[in-house]
Formats: sequence, C-alpha cells, structure tokens
Amino acid sequence: MTEKDFILSGYQNLKKEGKVGYKSPSNIALIKYWGKRANQIPANPSLSFTLDACATKTTMSFERLAKPAENFSFELYFEGEPKPDFKPKIETFFKRISPYIPFLKEYHFVINTGNSFPHSSGIASSASGMSALALCLMEIERGHQPTMDDDFFLKKASFLARLGSGSACRSIEGSIVQWGKHDAISDSTDLYGVKYSDEVHSVFDNYHDTILLVDKGEKQVSSTVGHNLMHDHPFATQRFEQAHRNLSQLMTVFKKGDLDGFVKIVESEALTLHAMMMTSMPYFILMKPNTLEIINKIWAFREASKTHVCFTLDAGANVHVLYPENEKEIIHQFIKDELVAYCQNQQYICDRIGFGARKLTV
Ligand code: PMV
Repeated sequence: MTEKDFILSGYQNLKKEGKVGYKSPSNIALIKYWGKRANQIPANPSLSFTLDACATKTTMSFERLAKPAENFSFELYFEGEPKPDFKPKIETFFKRISPYIPFLKEYHFVINTGNSFPHSSGIASSASGMSALALCLMEIERGHQPTMDDDFFLKKASFLARLGSGSACRSIEGSIVQWGKHDAISDSTDLYGVKYSDEVHSVFDNYHDTILLVDKGEKQVSSTVGHNLMHDHPFATQRFEQAHRNLSQLMTVFKKGDLDGFVKIVESEALTLHAMMMTSMPYFILMKPNTLEIINKIWAFREASKTHVCFTLDAGANVHVLYPENEKEIIHQFIKDELVAYCQNQQYICDRIGFGARKLTV
C-alpha cells in the first residue's frame, strides 16, 4: 500500500450531521522508536504492548457547514472544559491529514476528550489521544462510505494517527503491534502499525505493566526535539541497526516464551533510548535519582526471587514495571513494599496488555 491508497475518490453520501466516539489506549514500546524522517516515517522499526487501563475517550460531533471553512472549524473540550492550548496541536494534525480526509473543512466539529489516567501524571497522552481522534475521523469517513471494509478502516486509522504522533499508530489494535519496515515481518510498513501476527507463547498473555510515577513534571525534551537529535547523532546508524536485530531476537523470544531473553532485550532497549539522549548534542538526562533506585531494586529482587520482573522507560523518568501473570502476586507485593516509596505522592497505575481501541455508544 502507498499513501495514495488512503485517498478515497468521492463519497457515496456526505452526512449532514452526526456524532461518533472512541476509547483508545496508550501503548508501551518494547523496541523503541527514536529518530524519524519527514512525515513521521520512523528511522527504525518498533514494537509495543497495547495497554488497557491508560486510555483516552473522545467523542466528535459534526455538522455540515453552508460553505467550506477557510481554516478548520472546531471546538475542543478536555474533561468538560474548553482547552485552547490543545488547539494548535489539533490544527497541525488536521493540516497533515487533510489530503487524506478531504471533508475536514466541510464540517464544524465539537471534540470532547478526556483521559482515564490522572492528568499531569507525566504519562504521555499523545498516543491514546491521537489514535482516538483518528478513529473518530475514520468512523465519520465510514459513514460517508459504508462499503469500507474493516481492514482499510484499521490501516487508515493507524496511518492517520501516525501523522499526529508516531507512536499513536500502535494504539489502534492489540495486543502486540509492530510499526516500521522489518525484513522478517512481511506485512510490516513505515506507514502504519500492524497487529503482530507471528507466534506468541501464552506466557505473554495478560502481561502486566505497573507504571511508577516518579516525576509528574512537564517533559524536559519534547518528542519532536528528541527525534531530531538523532539526525546528527554519532551512534545513530548503529542504533537503528540494533533495533532491527533486537526485533528479530524478540520474535524468537515471543515464540519460545523465553522470559530471560525478554528481560534482556526490553531493558537494553530502554537504556539505549536514554543513552541516545545522554550522548546527543545537546544532551539530556531524563532519569531521576529515584528512577535509578527503582532499577537497582528491580535487579536485586529479580536475582533474589528468580522471577522475571523487568523495567522499561519512555522518554522520561517514570518506570514501567513489566511481569507475567503467573508472578503477579509476589511482584505486586514487592512493588508495594519496596518501589512505591520512590514514586511522587506514592502514585502508580496498574495496567496490563490490552486489546486495542473500541467504539463508544454515543
Ligand atoms: O510518538 P512520539 O513522537 O511521541 O515518540 C515516542 C517515542 C518513545 O515513546 C520514546 C518510544 C516509542 O516507541 O514509543
């Protein structure tokens, strides 16, 4: 498929008005996307677990305008309140997707959105937020073109979400999603995320992710700045090659249910992401002292308990603690006894692998 395949030629019926809604989850990358080319084309393939509890709910009402708007016409409410500071981000998104959603200027939209996780928790809402918005737009497009099949719907929703925020393209489906061309995955593409369809051992069913909120402050480095730092990065080529290799190895790990192998790849990916930030120019340290305390505690506990608890990190100080279903009791206890003390206001979120976005009854 190419970008052009996502442009529909004319609609069967342009609706006058309506309302749609979607709940879309966040995701946590195991193989990290860090570095991109123009139009949110990733510099390397990535793979994530779709989450379940951390999600955004968005509804979109639409009403046909008497004549097309000069600019995009929309109102935006976040948790019931008007949110003018979110508008520029949505305008940029609309601009990027308007070649693929030609009816955007034909309507006035009222967007209502909200997150299941506490705001200012330091958890990025761009993946769940952009994917929810992309799905709402696809639902409207499907209303104009009722013969659209599910495969096209999901691919195009992921494609649009990617134009909002790269990692958002991995939030449409579950429970494991891969994005970016990789030789061993035949349907892989830079254009959208695909549901991982290779064999996955049952030990990965219901995998847990407890998110420890170490620092709830504003992001020190925006994703855009961060990705750009990979352009002249001294280790960029090696890093991009490593991501390909790690993904190949992770495929074997998934097949065999090799939890020791899983731990090694996932932790190495997290530390490499942060190593890239520490070795770019300008350089950043996004971990906090408590991030390191938690990592050391996890390593000591894993050794002592012979469990498979491990961590991964986003571009920030919070820690995602990952563990299998059959070790959940002992690891929950460990988190409560030893890790929660390092969280800001003792806050953490119990999440797990999820099955993707779902339509809301509106
Ligand atoms: O989707 P963006 O542009 O915010 O980039 C996200 C990058 C990481 O979260 C650090 C890694 C990933 O693959 O999700």
